[in-house]
Amino acid sequence: MLRLLPWKTRMAIDLGTATCHISVQDAGLVVREPTAIAFDAERAEAASRGRPIAYGDEAKQMLDREVSGVSVVRPLEGGVVADFDAAVLLLRHLMHHALGHRPLLAPTVVTGEPTRATQVERRALTNVLRAAGAGEVIPVPRALAAAIGAGFPMDQPECRLIVDMGAGSTDIGVISMGMIAAGEAIHFGGDDLDEAIRRYVRRRYRLSIGSARAEDIKIMAGALSAEMVSEQVRLADLAGDDANGAGNQKLEGIADLMRGALKPAAAEVLWIIDGLPERQVDEITQVDSVVTGGCAQLRGITDLLSDELALNVTAAPDPMSCTILGLEAILNDLDALSLEGRRFTR
Ligand SMILES: Nc1ncnc2c1ncn2[C@@H]1O[C@H](COP(=O)(O)OP(=O)(O)OP(=O)(O)O)[C@@H](O)[C@H]1O
Ligand SMILES: [Mg+2]
Repeated sequence: MLRLLPWKTRMAIDLGTATCHISVQDAGLVVREPTAIAFDAERAEAASRGRPIAYGDEAKQMLDREVSGVSVVRPLEGGVVADFDAAVLLLRHLMHHALGHRPLLAPTVVTGEPTRATQVERRALTNVLRAAGAGEVIPVPRALAAAIGAGFPMDQPECRLIVDMGAGSTDIGVISMGMIAAGEAIHFGGDDLDEAIRRYVRRRYRLSIGSARAEDIKIMAGALSAEMVSEQVRLADLAGDDANGAGNQKLEGIADLMRGALKPAAAEVLWIIDGLPERQVDEITQVDSVVTGGCAQLRGITDLLSDELALNVTAAPDPMSCTILGLEAILNDLDALSLEGRRFTR
């Protein structure tokens, strides 16, 4: 089934909650755009949401600037498709952009699905891709794609742990022989940190900020302990004259807040490790475990995970690209990496 016609275009698509990456065979990475689409809200009618007017980067900028008359949709939530129609419109646009033309035959698409995806989640993803113009869709668990992208050897039986923490989900995988020995996807990611920051700022400082501002604060602070925080945020920067007379007062406690928010996610990883047979636990303690995804860029996350899991955890270089790099590797060597097709079928 996985033997492909040579004239058919093959693409790899990582439709993330925050970012969509697309690679085309022989051309490499061609799209890296926010997973966002903007509609003309002024022309919207009761039955429809209006015409799409911007995609990706441009749509995200409209969202951040809260442009009036425009409604911006992020079609994924928690790593799964939440708005089918918006996801199809966005993907169709990005796939055409990636190929530069309308393909003669529907392209074969290797894509990342939630680790241990349910039938419903898999069908939603496959249907979105088909409606957007894909032909055959080959779903690969995101934890496996991230592990390949992070350089895990795929031919060794010793188990190794990968934690891919993106915007909406965290994919956890114990990898052995290029397959997932144990794992799952949990609905936790950078979006939850943004939400925790938004609520905290409202509760403690009585300032109302949007998610985009909360994400800025997270990235600016960039760390999970107060000593590591790179840039202090002043309340006046957040709300200007509306800073409730707080003037130059610094925003405190963000690093500790994020640390607290991350602990339950670490506990989920520990839960999976605790369910492993003793031999596999021994194996994963022998090698570094790896964290990938946007949240891997938080300073202190490797220390936090190492402490909570009692393992040595390192961050992958270029952690936001690991999933698409893994999908691209599968795309370029489908037969080898799929063990003649067995690996990606269950
Ligand atoms: N320098 C940084 N420090 C901390 N967080 C960051 C940094 N850069 C990006 N992020 C966060 O990483 C997340 C995006 O990561 P990534 O691109 O891996 O997610 P995704 O693949 O789109 O989502 P998912 O895999 O959950 O569906 C966002 O929450 C973003 O705010
Ligand atoms: Mg991701």
